[in-house]
Amino acid sequence: MLKDLIELDKKHFIHPTSSIQQQQEAGPRLIIEEGDGIYLKDRNGKTFIDAMSSLWNVNVGHGRKELADAASEQMQKMAYSSAFSTFSHEPAILLAEKIASLAPGDLNAVFFTSGGSESNDTAFKLARHYWKIQGQSKKRTIISLKRGYHGVAAGSTSATGIPEFWDMAGHMMTGFIHAKTHYQQSTEEAINSIRTLIEEQGAETIAAFIAEPVQGSGGVLIPTADYFKEIRKLCDENDILFIADEVITGFGRTGKMFGLDNWDVTPDMLTFAKGVTSGYMPLGGVVVSDHIHNVLKEKSEGTLFHGFTYSGHPTAAVVALKNIEIIEAEGLVENARKMGQVLLHAFHEVKSKLKIVGEVRTLGLLGAVELVQNPLTNERFSPDLKVTPIVIDALQDLGVICRGVNYDGTDIICFAPPLIINEQQIHTLVEKLYEAVSFIQDQLNIHYKN
Ligand SMILES: Cc1ncc(COP(=O)(O)O)c(C=O)c1O
Repeated sequence: MLKDLIELDKKHFIHPTSSIQQQQEAGPRLIIEEGDGIYLKDRNGKTFIDAMSSLWNVNVGHGRKELADAASEQMQKMAYSSAFSTFSHEPAILLAEKIASLAPGDLNAVFFTSGGSESNDTAFKLARHYWKIQGQSKKRTIISLKRGYHGVAAGSTSATGIPEFWDMAGHMMTGFIHAKTHYQQSTEEAINSIRTLIEEQGAETIAAFIAEPVQGSGGVLIPTADYFKEIRKLCDENDILFIADEVITGFGRTGKMFGLDNWDVTPDMLTFAKGVTSGYMPLGGVVVSDHIHNVLKEKSEGTLFHGFTYSGHPTAAVVALKNIEIIEAEGLVENARKMGQVLLHAFHEVKSKLKIVGEVRTLGLLGAVELVQNPLTNERFSPDLKVTPIVIDALQDLGVICRGVNYDGTDIICFAPPLIINEQQIHTLVEKLYEAVSFIQDQLNIHYKN
C-alpha cells in the first residue's frame, strides 16, 4: 500500500516548493499520517518531533479536538456564505473584532484572505489604492528586503528577496525593489541601504515598504533592537506605508502576540496567516490602521474590486477564534517567550561543545543555529559539501523535522516548534541536534588548533 502511494505520488502529485527530479527519482521521503502535540507520525509508524510546527504554522500543536469540534459545528450550521457586497456573517465579524483587539496600536480593520501570499498581494494593492484615491497615483513602488520571503502570488513573489523565486517564471510584476537585509550589518548600514533606494527612486514613487519582523525563510534573521524604530521613522519621513509581514511571527511565535510588539513599533498594515488557525484551516488577512481605514471610507468610491471567494470563510473564522482562545487560555505566548530562553541556552551548550557551530539565536520559539567552517572568522563551508541538507537528513533519521537554509553560502538550521513545547522536549530536541551536528563534524574530519 505504501509502495502504491509512492508511485501515485510520483505520477499525479506536483509538490509545492520541491524538486520534481528528486521526487521522480526517490518519491516522497515522508508520508505523514498522524499528529499529536509536538509530534508527527509517518505511515511506517516512525515518530518525529515537528520542530518547525510543519510550515511555521501549527502553533497550538497537532491533534486539537477543540478545533475539529469548532469546525464540525460550524459546517453543520452554515458551511459557507459569501462576504461580498452586502453579505456578512457572525464568524467573520467576531474574528475581525478579536484580531483588532490583539493587533498593535490603531490597527483595527481586517480584510480576510486564504493565506499569506494573498494577504501580501492584498496589502500591496491596498497601499497603491490608498495613494491613488488621494491623487498620488505615482506612488506605486514596493520596497522589500533581500532574503525576505513574502509568498508566491504575483505581488508577493516579486517582493520576495530570494531570486530563485522570481527566476522560476521570470518577473511577475514591475515596481518591486529590494534593499539589503539587516543580517550581519549594523542598523545604520541597513537603514542607509533603504534610504539610498528611496533617494534614487524618489519618495513620490514609493507606496510601501514591507518586511518580516524576523526573516523566517531567509534563515531566522533577527534584527537589532532599534532596526524597526528606524524603519518606522524612515517611512514617516518619506510618506511611505510600512507593512509588517507577520505571517510567521504573528500569534505568539516570538514570545509576543505579534513580532513587532518586541520593539513597540506599530506598522500601517500587518499581514497574517499560518498561526491564526495553527494550520487547521487556510486563512490569512491584512489588518489596517484607523488612518488607512478612514481614507478608504472617505475617498474610495464605488466597489473595492478586490475579494476572494474565501475571504472570511466561516469555518476558518470559527477555527481561528477557537485557536486564539487556546493561545490565550494556555498562556502560549508567555510559554514561547520562556521556552525560547531555554532553547537559546541549550543551543549555547551545543555551541560550546562543537567547533562547527557558529552564531545561535532565538526570539521566542523562532530559532537558528549556523554552521561554519571556522567560528572565529565566520568562514563558511563550500556549498559543494552540502552541509545543511546532510544535517537535515541526519536529524530526520533521528526523528526531528526541521528546516535548513543555505542561500548565499550560509548554512542555517531553523527551528520553530509548536508553542506548547516543554523544557524536557526542548532538551530531547537539542540532544538530537547535538548528535546530528557532531556526526557531520566527524564526517567532515575537521581538526582545529585549540
Ligand atoms: C513571512 C511569510 N510571508 C508570506 C508567506 C506566504 O504564505 P502562504 O504560503 O500562506 O501563501 C510565508 C510562507 O511561508 C511567509 O513565511
